Amino acid sequence: MASMPVRTARRYAAFTDILWRSSRRWTGLAVGCAVLAGLLPAVTIIASGVLVGSAGGVASGGLSSTAGHRAVTALVVFGAVSVLYALVGAAQGYATSALTAHYVVAMDDRLAAVSLGPDRIAHLEDVPTARQLAAAVEAGREGVNLGGPGDALVVLQMRLSAFVAALILFAYQWWAPLLMAAGWLIFGWTLGRWVNTLYDELIQVTGSDRRRAEYLRGVLHGQGTAKEIRIFGLADWLVGRYADVWMSAMRLVWRNRQRTSGLIGAGIVAMVLANGLVISLLGHDAFTGHLSTGRLVVFVQAMFATVSLGLIGDPQWNAGRAAGTAEHVRDLGRRFGRNDRPAAGTPAAEHAGAGVELRGVRFTYPSRERPTLDGLDLSVPPGQSLAIVGVNGAGKSTLIKLLAGLYAADSGSITIDGIDAATGNLTELRARVAVVFQDFLRYELPLRDNIGFGNLALRGDADRLAVPLDEAGGTAVLDRLDGDWDTVLSAAYDGGTDLSGGQWQRVALARALTAVHGGAGLLILDEPTAALDVRAEVELFERLLSVVGGVTTILVSHRLSSVRHADRIVVVADGRIAEDGTHDELLAAGGLYARMFTLQAQRFAETGDVDA
Ligand SMILES: Nc1ncnc2c1ncn2[C@@H]1O[C@H](COP(=O)(O)OP(=O)(O)OP(=O)(O)O)[C@@H](O)[C@H]1O
Ligand SMILES: [Mg+2]
Repeated sequence: MASMPVRTARRYAAFTDILWRSSRRWTGLAVGCAVLAGLLPAVTIIASGVLVGSAGGVASGGLSSTAGHRAVTALVVFGAVSVLYALVGAAQGYATSALTAHYVVAMDDRLAAVSLGPDRIAHLEDVPTARQLAAAVEAGREGVNLGGPGDALVVLQMRLSAFVAALILFAYQWWAPLLMAAGWLIFGWTLGRWVNTLYDELIQVTGSDRRRAEYLRGVLHGQGTAKEIRIFGLADWLVGRYADVWMSAMRLVWRNRQRTSGLIGAGIVAMVLANGLVISLLGHDAFTGHLSTGRLVVFVQAMFATVSLGLIGDPQWNAGRAAGTAEHVRDLGRRFGRNDRPAAGTPAAEHAGAGVELRGVRFTYPSRERPTLDGLDLSVPPGQSLAIVGVNGAGKSTLIKLLAGLYAADSGSITIDGIDAATGNLTELRARVAVVFQDFLRYELPLRDNIGFGNLALRGDADRLAVPLDEAGGTAVLDRLDGDWDTVLSAAYDGGTDLSGGQWQRVALARALTAVHGGAGLLILDEPTAALDVRAEVELFERLLSVVGGVTTILVSHRLSSVRHADRIVVVADGRIAEDGTHDELLAAGGLYARMFTLQAQRFAETGDVDA
């Protein structure tokens, strides 16, 4: 592990780099103002010495004497500095707020590049990376609230004025500024260890209890969680658990602080010794006539001004944190960031059914040891409708995520329309695939967006969006919204409204069908109809198969009566395709499919409800 000054330097280098790239103009102006403001106190220190030093001369010789001229010059300088200070302060405030705005955008852009840049999603499931990302997002947000760039400029300004004060002290005794610097640095270092460990703590703790606490707080206040908390009476338990977990996270923080606080006593001794020694010597020299009053005034002020070589308090705290965040964001960016986020696919050729080929596909989730798919072979000719069935956890959704290129297979090959999912252009591949994921998104955005996201080019054209909505059997949704495509699908917005589970599924399906209209040749539906009643599901599947004719379709469903009309059915078991054929062939084979189908049919016969 690198030493503390090296790490601090690295943090500030990353921070400066992001600031500079976010806006050269505002960074230049803000730093220029901070430097000027940092130099001005030295001028007043010297002017005050001149003023005091010439007081005796003015008293005896009047304003027209040499001493008088010096006193007047000093007063003019004071006036000028005070005006300049006000002007620089105003310019600095203006530049800092502009710079902060640019900085926020630059940080968000970098974080988005990390979250969204990689073509696949495995990095988001890697625990240390997810932790680092969560902490950076949180600290980035907090850092901006606390004024990261502005505080860093305050630190720069104060350090600079302390440094110039030390140079002035140099004119008294060469060792005096060194002694003061040593005293303040030791003091600052012992206390500053806290500052620098803050960000590390956040990272460490975010991974464990703190993350859990944040989650529990979200559950307590969430809209989506309100129903279950009430029905199961979880409120008290959750509040208690939140408090326990939060305290346990904080105990770790306090323990860390205690560990770094041992040396603070030594820091205080060093600081007191340095101050005591220099002030005693200044006093001694003044009383013994070795130092004029004017010079005494200058050196005593300079000595006090060196205080900012030590700890600066809140600004340093905030700036250190902002710099730490910047370093982590830069590291994440180097590992995962790409500025060209995957864009919406360019429309592919009209409705051409895409062929799918999987050969010997083996895939293991990053967090798992055993492969979920192992030696899976599947070949789907263009235009075929294929149903995938299998028990819970068999790997159906995993297979679909691989087809969408969201994960890379450990071995074997996957091609869609001849594009290799491992080596080919993923943007082109995705332009050919339309998916309704099992956990599809319910965007709290207008209906237009919820459907238009399937192909952004169609988003503005309500007439064309109405076609996939109708194909998905969702015309009733539009009727409920009085035909207003701009109604937000969330009751949390003015004029907005929420949908039922089945209506949401139709909206998600319409989104995927919009992608099909935009040229995708492979439509994948992962249990998109679980919230529909059986008849609605059967009807929808049959209708879909007729409207998307020519497009390759892959349907996942647990209701075997609904998928029996697919051209072909495969059963996924033990990480591979265990059975493959038409409904009739699989029934005749008497395997897993036949057993599952008979079981469901029996229940249907007994209860009249195949949905059970
Ligand atoms: N992100 C993940 N990380 C680790 N394991 C996962 C992840 N997602 C799924 N799994 C595991 O992989 C296996 C296959 O899951 P998958 O979601 O593909 O099953 P499925 O066949 O779609 O099941 P269901 O019918 O319940 O939807 C399961 O054991 C599941 O726990
Ligand atoms: Mg699934």
